[in-house]
Amino acid sequence: MAYPDDSSKSAQLFARARSVLPGGGSRSSTLISPYPLYASEAHGKYLTDVDGNRYLDFNNNMTSLIHGHAHPRIVGAVGYQVRRGSGYTFMNEAEIQLAELLCARVQGFEQIRFTNSGTEAVMNAVKAARAFTGRADIAKCENAYHGTFDAVEVSLGVTATDAALGDPPSVAGSRGTPAGVVESVKVIAWNDTATSKRILDQHRGELAAIIIDPAFRRIEPEAAFIDMLGDYCRETGTLLIADEVISFRVGYTGSQGEYDIPADLTALGKIIGGGFPVGAVAGRRDVMSVFDGTREAEGHVRHAGTFNGNPVTMAAGFAAMDMMTPAAFAHINDLGARFRAGINEVFALTNVQGRARGHHSLFAIDIDDVDLMASHVDSAAACDGLARYLLNHGYAMAPGLGGAVSTIMEASDVAPFCETLLAGIRSIKGEA
Ligand SMILES: Cc1ncc(COP(=O)(O)O)c(C=O)c1O
Repeated sequence: MAYPDDSSKSAQLFARARSVLPGGGSRSSTLISPYPLYASEAHGKYLTDVDGNRYLDFNNNMTSLIHGHAHPRIVGAVGYQVRRGSGYTFMNEAEIQLAELLCARVQGFEQIRFTNSGTEAVMNAVKAARAFTGRADIAKCENAYHGTFDAVEVSLGVTATDAALGDPPSVAGSRGTPAGVVESVKVIAWNDTATSKRILDQHRGELAAIIIDPAFRRIEPEAAFIDMLGDYCRETGTLLIADEVISFRVGYTGSQGEYDIPADLTALGKIIGGGFPVGAVAGRRDVMSVFDGTREAEGHVRHAGTFNGNPVTMAAGFAAMDMMTPAAFAHINDLGARFRAGINEVFALTNVQGRARGHHSLFAIDIDDVDLMASHVDSAAACDGLARYLLNHGYAMAPGLGGAVSTIMEASDVAPFCETLLAGIRSIKGEA
């Protein structure tokens, strides 16, 4: 593999794609410069591109494939369902089965509604919170990603505000966001309890919900921050929405079990669909009842969707989540710790300032400035260079040099990765 290569099939497909797809595709997150790679097939922990290069896949479709690619039990469940029809305007039992599994695991999940993406899950959680509280405004953390719709994109991709210089402003995340939407979103700072409390106190009685991502930047929530949010929500009748689209993979009862997050509503996605498009809103029965279409006369929140709770996703999700036993979570979390320890050992062997960030089955590699004497490489260029080196040596990482461990990875995957990482760091320093 020698990326980039203008003569590769991936480069040619991208050139072809650009005439019919703006930016070459339907998903900004798959773009890498100068061209994205095109997949040909994937099995277990490996992904192969159209040029025949094979990668150990740490991205796992943005953390969603917790059992890796094409797991036989999931393929079997999906095949069984597809042969019986892929969607109906009759209800299906598979939806009840996945709902029962999830509600049995997490104390705060009294009821659940399925959607087709994490974005839709967050959107519907916000709608439910507004309907339940009769308030319009919400609060979110600066730079927290909650999917692609205008309210939760506020203050995304901005330079982090230095708390000493002021409070984080509400800034439109997309061109064309109505000013009223921007104003309706108050911005707080992850794990900064004092600043966030001061901002929230200015809006007592005005907020429908506060939304947090417990895996934000792969930095674990601090107990004082969570306690403050819980107290504030109780005192002011605000709903706490845990966006567990990614963080649900931290354990059998999600992040809310792990960190005692008193979520009223939870947005889910990724792993609960077994690799198929999915999302869900789960939470308190009284709040979830806003979706109850049998109570139309009382005024409910409309939640239709051609593919909501479709039986293929439900079957795949049930198979995937049924295999996520406490032992399976322990396995991936142990592996995550081994990768992080290995990465830190690699940095200790070089004079490059860097470290592993992350928790549970998630890791990310942080590089500070690389030894300037040797290479004049700043941290952003070093990260890009390292990502490319790893790609060219058989490792597909998530953006920001991130990794999500899957159940079919093993302890024996750690050492080869760390050796490649060491060689990669030496290479970008010009030592190789
Ligand atoms: C925390 C969080 N919320 C919401 C989303 C949106 O989910 P989806 O991509 O399924 O729309 C993501 C996706 O990465 C996410 O990480």
